[in-house]
Amino acid sequence: MRQLSWLVILELLFLGWRCAGGQQCQKFNIGLNDRSKISDDQFTASSFLSPETAPFHARIGDTEGEGWCAQESRNNEYLQVDLRNDYVVCGVIVQGGIHGNVDSFDLEFSTDGSFFSPYSKTLVRVNQLEEEAEFHPLGPYPVGRYVRLYPRKIRNFLCARLDLYGFPGPKVTCTPQYIIAEFKKAHYPGLEAEGMHLKNTSCLADDENATHILFNIPLRNCGTERILLNDSYIQYTNEIIRRITGVGISYKMDMFFPINCKYDRRETVGDIRIELPATTTEAPTSDATTLKPLQRKISFIGWLVTLWISVSGLLTLWY
Ligand SMILES: *[C@@H]1O[C@H](CO)[C@@H](O)[C@H](O)[C@H]1NC(C)=O
Ligand SMILES: *[C@@H]1O[C@H](CO)[C@@H](O)[C@H](O)[C@H]1NC(C)=O
Ligand SMILES: *[C@@H]1O[C@H](CO)[C@@H](O)[C@H](O)[C@H]1NC(C)=O
Repeated sequence: MRQLSWLVILELLFLGWRCAGGQQCQKFNIGLNDRSKISDDQFTASSFLSPETAPFHARIGDTEGEGWCAQESRNNEYLQVDLRNDYVVCGVIVQGGIHGNVDSFDLEFSTDGSFFSPYSKTLVRVNQLEEEAEFHPLGPYPVGRYVRLYPRKIRNFLCARLDLYGFPGPKVTCTPQYIIAEFKKAHYPGLEAEGMHLKNTSCLADDENATHILFNIPLRNCGTERILLNDSYIQYTNEIIRRITGVGISYKMDMFFPINCKYDRRETVGDIRIELPATTTEAPTSDATTLKPLQRKISFIGWLVTLWISVSGLLTLWY
């Protein structure tokens, strides 16, 4: 019995933590409502009904249009937004249009515009007031430049409006010996190097000043994985994690940034000398020959692992 109540408290704490994350997420509006940030041509769709229901009318708060509507109310009609850069998406708002409402929907994300990974579950509106905007926090955070919305259960016509919340990935530069990831602090309120690390938690930021945080990620160390894409290309992946520590409800948000670099195998990685800051150390030449097939779900697995670590961390603290 005592065990059970502890579990309930843990669950509540976890829920509180998730909600705090959701509130934090709402500070990161990507700007779909702002034409100067996301232009009309960044919105596309599988089809649309009329000029008044063209894809860009999916902006919430657009008073000129009627929301995006598909030509027919059938399955697999989608609205797509090209954000022009990879974003880590932490939440969405989906609303109906003038001619119809969305009761449930699926999301898909892509970094290259051709391979789309579905978000882990179908999201269902809980609000009975059809025109009320409803925020849905996402977790694990999907990553992509292209976001697709598939309305599933609808009322009347297949029409929808969309808003997205999230943050851009860091600026990634692939050098022959290191992956450089640079965070511009202005993009992430409250971000500081403390609490940020790579998959290997001993690997921390290499530099921080008033405006930037810099990671030099070794190719053969710190949890970096090597993935053979095909005969010509090899990919190195790691993840930068910002973990909020401490028990209880935190009003800061955990963040995960997947880092990927593709290299042409004919240009031998590691042979070309480049200038590096003196603080960085030479990567050991350990033989990382575990070649794995393309793992697009790598960041999802990373998230599961970090979730497991945080839950077990809480458990250790409580017992
Ligand atoms: C993490 O990195 C540190 C420093 O590079 C290294 O000493 C340690 O063995 C690594 N841990 C794991 C689990 O790879
Ligand atoms: C902070 O570091 C970045 C590189 O990470 C550099 O471009 C920028 O000029 C630095 N700013 C200051 C104020 O030193
Ligand atoms: C190998 O993969 C890269 C990157 O995904 C792609 O651009 C290239 O066309 C592929 N090459 C072959 C031979 O399949």
